[in-house]
Amino acid sequence: MSNWFLRIAVLYIIAGVGLGIFMGASGDHSMYPVHAHLNLLGFVAMTLFGLFYRMIPAAAETMLAKVHFWLYVPAHFVQMVLLTILYRGHPAVEPVLGVFSILVGVAFLCFATVVWRHTGKAA
Ligand code: HEM
Ligand code: HEM
Repeated sequence: MSNWFLRIAVLYIIAGVGLGIFMGASGDHSMYPVHAHLNLLGFVAMTLFGLFYRMIPAAAETMLAKVHFWLYVPAHFVQMVLLTILYRGHPAVEPVLGVFSILVGVAFLCFATVVWRHTGKAA
């Protein structure tokens, strides 16, 4: 799971930096929230997940870690697609975007629980 978080993370930095260069070159910065969250929720967060699960492999074996992975990766992907559609001028997607953002939030709660469980005294 650590490998997949790290591998997916670098795909997001390619997309995020690609969009950043495009924004800089074109002078059209309108997609900056997509750029920011591709880089931060895509690359930064997923790299940290990957490094955490690499440092504490037992954490990656838990059911909650699997829920974290399978909730976060698809929900974040859909969130970025919907965010792009929103900033291309389609406000109607906002409620669905909200639902997927909540799912991403729930995935972070799973991760937070895994971190607490594997960094306490017993660990
Ligand atoms: C070659 C790499 C990059 C380029 C060319 C680039 C370019 C840009 C541009 C043109 C903007 C819009 C600025 C504005 O209109 O306010 C922007 C905003 C932003 N970028 Fe990048 N970026 C790059 C890499 C990154 C990386 C690696 C991250 C994060 C890890 C990042 C995070 C952000 C954030 C958070 C914003 C929004 C800042 C704000 O709220 O004003 N960028 N970037
Ligand atoms: C489900 C998770 C998240 C949601 C729903 C969310 C939502 C938002 C929203 C609505 C904005 C304001 C956009 C605007 O109109 O300018 C924003 C901005 C920002 N968020 Fe997030 N965010 C999330 C996670 C994160 C995380 C994890 C980070 C950092 C690691 C982050 C960093 C930023 C930054 C730097 C900005 C300012 C740049 C921008 O406006 O795009 N966000 N976020």
